[in-house]
Amino acid sequence: MCGIIGYIGEKKALPIILKSLKKMEYRGYDSAGVALVENDKLIIKKKSGKLDILKKELKDFKNNSTIGIGHIRWATHGEPSDLNAHPHNDCNSELTIVHNGIIENSNELKKSLIKKGHIFKTETDSEVLAHLIEEYYKNNKLEEAVKIALEKVNGAYGIVVFSLKEEKLVAARLGSPVVLGIKNKEYFVASDVAALLPFTKEVLFLEEGEIAILDRQGYKIIKLTGGESIRETQTVDWSLDEVEKDGYDHFMLKEIMEEADTVRASMRGRVILEEGDIRFGGLIDVMDKLKEIDRIIIVACGTAHYAGRIAEYVIESLVNLPVEVQYASEFRYREEPLDKKSLVLAISQSGETADTLAAIRKAKENNVLTFGIVNVVGSTIARETDAGIYNHIGPEISVASTKAFVSQLVIIYLLAILLGRQRKLSRQQAIEILDELNKLPEKIETITAQASKIDEIAKKYYEANNFIYIGRKLNYPIALEGALKLKEISYIHAEGYPAGELKHGPLALIEEGYPVVAIIPQDKVYKKTINNLEEVKARLGKVIAITNEEDDLIKKVTDDVIIIPKTLEILNPILTVIPIQLLAYFIAKRRGCPIDQPRNLAKSVTVE
Ligand code: G6P
Repeated sequence: MCGIIGYIGEKKALPIILKSLKKMEYRGYDSAGVALVENDKLIIKKKSGKLDILKKELKDFKNNSTIGIGHIRWATHGEPSDLNAHPHNDCNSELTIVHNGIIENSNELKKSLIKKGHIFKTETDSEVLAHLIEEYYKNNKLEEAVKIALEKVNGAYGIVVFSLKEEKLVAARLGSPVVLGIKNKEYFVASDVAALLPFTKEVLFLEEGEIAILDRQGYKIIKLTGGESIRETQTVDWSLDEVEKDGYDHFMLKEIMEEADTVRASMRGRVILEEGDIRFGGLIDVMDKLKEIDRIIIVACGTAHYAGRIAEYVIESLVNLPVEVQYASEFRYREEPLDKKSLVLAISQSGETADTLAAIRKAKENNVLTFGIVNVVGSTIARETDAGIYNHIGPEISVASTKAFVSQLVIIYLLAILLGRQRKLSRQQAIEILDELNKLPEKIETITAQASKIDEIAKKYYEANNFIYIGRKLNYPIALEGALKLKEISYIHAEGYPAGELKHGPLALIEEGYPVVAIIPQDKVYKKTINNLEEVKARLGKVIAITNEEDDLIKKVTDDVIIIPKTLEILNPILTVIPIQLLAYFIAKRRGCPIDQPRNLAKSVTVE
């Protein structure tokens, strides 16, 4: 997973490329590089490490090229190093390429290219593409060479290529996102819209198997399988402000602080309160099919998977349909029977997660109805599912997902109400939930207002080496998500457990000072979890509780308490997750971690 950018126009390419790369830093930060033209020669500047290192190196570098490409890398093949950084070029340094994805048959291709005399300089699979295109680049038609080369390739790619012989950029996509940006006589190619927003809102998403040719006069799209694609551009409504930090130290904190709005945005225009009903534009055509389904399989990864684990409880309770939640990476290789009355529901913020996409493709091969809950408009999962629901919450930049999770939960409640109303859920029950959902933004604000109190708690525990998170029922997935958040951004080992399982193993870990975070709202299982906390206290562990009220029971078994407002039991996870996110954030901040870009992780995992 990487970010690619290309520019051809009337302005100097270098500053434009660097600005775009900055917007894509969340896609990878192992190295950065640019390729430009100077005195009819190709100039490539690349450096391992974050973009700022490259920028420093280019501080006094002057270049007037009005065509260029750039790359930000998340290493897959070949260690992060200056040499392995993109762009890569051909033998004669006439042609250069940036690539996001994986070339699965790169070893075979490389061997045969070496036999033909090509000289390789790096360990990357991407360099193979440069030489392969060079091999077929005969008659000054770069797009033809790209097309023939890509026919020989297995794997995933989003690429941009240019050659000194022609004034054009050629881009292509298969399995990795590519979007074009258009502004008068300026043309851009990037991995995502965020990279284009500083320059234009007029965009066009390439489809799988399409090749775009951009020159100084315009753009043209052809298909790998032959023929031209005629498609219109679209205007995106994400403002540049939305992708900037808004005065917060980190995108993660900004995104947590946006969560009240996230709930509003996810519900906007979808709730018919007086009827206790829901309308999703993206589901209108499949409403009848939805009445027929008798099983739901949710496929997702990471935080989105935990949203799915909550959906399991919610849908079973409101719809009375059996729900199974699977890791997309497991589902894709299982050999379970899938029947036509099942619905496979993918949850994915980016809409590009390779495993989730593969799960959807598998379901489609089995003629099973597929849905997506996706944030990124026009993303691959959004386009490949039979129907879907967008989160409509703007871009999420921090690698650790927060506001997308909250939005995924809101959509799940709305979807469960829609499915429930087609079955056993009464209008009155639906209205009661919708009424309460409407009140959640204000309740969320009372939790985010406690940020400094949560930071004080973080101060007490940030040096711990281990944490356990516990919860029951709907709050068990919140315990899992809490542990995931902490691991991701603070590098502290943490595990999430159903509170009732504590005594079956993890209790052996508890010793003096060991922190246990309990998600324990005052629900039907409150007292059961209190008993588990007694077990922790008896072993001198420290308890941080997230609950609704500091009653005598909780006082006895806790060291720190975070109070959240009361809501319906079924809606609790939307509120309980927020202190969990803030606690992880402040602990990571106190440990001096690079919160928005944790080591080894990336936002959009477009490789298997
Ligand atoms: C990566 C990200 C996580 C995210 C997961 C699924 O691991 O770091 O934050 O939850 O991918 O991503 P998706 O875009 O499919 O929701």
